[in-house]
Amino acid sequence: MELLINLSYIVSASFFVFGLKMLSSPRTARAGNLISAVGMLLAIVMTLLDRGIVDFRWIVLGLAVGSVVGLFAARLVAMTAMPEMVAIFNGFGGIASLLVGWSVYHRVLDTAVFQTVTIALSVLIGGVTFTGSLVAFAKLNGLITGKPVLYKGQHIVNTAIVVSILAVAVLFGINPADGYSFFLVLVGISLLFGVLFVIPIGGADMPVVISLLNSFSGLAACAAGFVIENNLLIVAGALVGASGIILTNIMWKAMNRSLPNVLFSGFGSAKTAGGAAVSGEAQAISAEDAFLVLEAATSVVIVPGYGLAVAQAQHAVKELGDLLEANGTEVRYAIHPVAGRMPGHMNVLLAEANVPYDQLVEMDDINPTLNTVDVCMVIGANDVVNPAAREDETSPIYGMPIINVDEARTVFVLKRSLGVGFAGIGNPLFYKENTRMLFGDAKQTLQALIGEFKGM
Ligand code: TAP
Repeated sequence: MELLINLSYIVSASFFVFGLKMLSSPRTARAGNLISAVGMLLAIVMTLLDRGIVDFRWIVLGLAVGSVVGLFAARLVAMTAMPEMVAIFNGFGGIASLLVGWSVYHRVLDTAVFQTVTIALSVLIGGVTFTGSLVAFAKLNGLITGKPVLYKGQHIVNTAIVVSILAVAVLFGINPADGYSFFLVLVGISLLFGVLFVIPIGGADMPVVISLLNSFSGLAACAAGFVIENNLLIVAGALVGASGIILTNIMWKAMNRSLPNVLFSGFGSAKTAGGAAVSGEAQAISAEDAFLVLEAATSVVIVPGYGLAVAQAQHAVKELGDLLEANGTEVRYAIHPVAGRMPGHMNVLLAEANVPYDQLVEMDDINPTLNTVDVCMVIGANDVVNPAAREDETSPIYGMPIINVDEARTVFVLKRSLGVGFAGIGNPLFYKENTRMLFGDAKQTLQALIGEFKGM
C-alpha cells in the first residue's frame, strides 16, 4: 500500500507540474486546469484511503459536497467578481493549514524541534493568510472601504507585532508541551496581523496582494505538509507558493511598483493621490462617423479594459473584428497585464468569444508598432491607456507601463462618460487632438458599428 500511495503521489505531483505549465497559454489552460484537478482528486483519495483515515463513504460524500460547492461557485460568481472568489479561496487554504497545525499540536503536544517549528509556521502563515484574505475580499466586495486605511504610528505597530510574533513563537518552541497559552497567543496575533497587514493597502493594489496571499496560502500548506509529513502537500504547497510569488512579481512590475512600495505606501490615499488637473474639451464622435474612419482603416488595434467585462461586449467585439477583417483591415488586440480586475481577465473574456489567440498581442510587443496603426479602439479601458503614467511626474500612476494608444493616427474611446477608472485619476487621453470619444455602453456602441458595417 505504501508503495502504491507514493507512486500515486508522484503521478499527482507530475499532473500539478504539467497542469501549471499548461496554464501559461490560453490555448492549453482549460486542459491544464483539468489535469491539475485530476491530480488533486487522486491525491486526496489516496491520502484518505491511506492508514484508513476515513471510510470510503465519507470520501464520496466529501467529493459530492465539494463538487456541488465548486459547481455553484463557478456558475454563479460573475466574471467581474473572480478576484473576490480567489481571495476567499486563498483564505480557506490559510485557515485549513492553521487548523492542521493546531490539531497535530493537540495530538502530539511534546513535539520535536522540527515539528514545533513547522507547526508554528503553519499557524502563523495560515492565520495571516486567512484574515488577510478576508479583508482583501471585503475590500474588493465593497463591504469595507477600498481605500488604504492609514493611521499614525502604523509602521511602529506593525513592527511591534512582528517582533511579538517572533518572541511568542520562541517561547512556545522552548517548551511546546506546556506552551498552550503561548500557542493561543500566536494564533491570535497571526490572525490580527493578517488584518493589519492588508488594511493599509489600497484597492488598486489588490491584485498584487491577492497573488501574494495566494503564495502565502501555498507556503502555509507546505508548512502543514511538513507537520503531517505528507510529501505531496509539501510539493503542492511549494508549487502554489512559487507560482504565487512569480505572479506577484509580474503584477508589481506591470504597475511599475516594488513590493515594499505596494505593501507600505498606502497607494490611493489622500496623501499620495494627485497628479496635474486634467481638463480640456473632449471631442465626441457618432457611430456613423466612426464607421467611416474604420471602414477606411488598414490596421486597427483594439484595447480592451474593465468596461468590456462590465458591458459583456466580448462577443460584439469579436463580431466587429471579423467584419473589419472581412473588409481587409488587419485587426489585433492589445493586452495590458493588469487590464480588468484579475490577471488574465481580458484573455479569458476574449477566449470566451473565440477571438483567435494569435490576434492577442502583449503590451511590450504592440507598443513599438502603434505609431503605424490607423485606429486604436479603446473599449472600456482607462488606467491602462492613461498617458499621465508617461507624462505627469506628479501622477500616482507615473512610471506604470501603459499601452501607448495616443501614438496611433486616430483613437476611439468607447465608454459612457469622461469618468475615471480604478485608480480614480483623470485621463488626458480623452482631450488629445487625435482622440474621439464614442460615448455609451460599449456593447451598444459596438452593435451600432456592427449595424453600420452590415448595412454597407
Ligand atoms: P479602468 O481603469 O478601471 O477603467 C474602466 C473604464 O470602463 C471606466 O473608466 C468606465 O468608464 C468604463 N466602463 C465601465 N462600464 C462600462 C460600460 N458598460 N461600457 C463602456 N465602458 C464602461 O480599467 P482598465 O483600464 O482595465 O484598468 C484596470 C485597473 O484596475 C488598473 O488600475 C488596475 O491596476 C486595476 N486592477 C487590476 C486588476 C487586475 S489583476 N487586472 C485587479 C484589480 C484592480 P465610464 O464609467 O465612463 O463608462
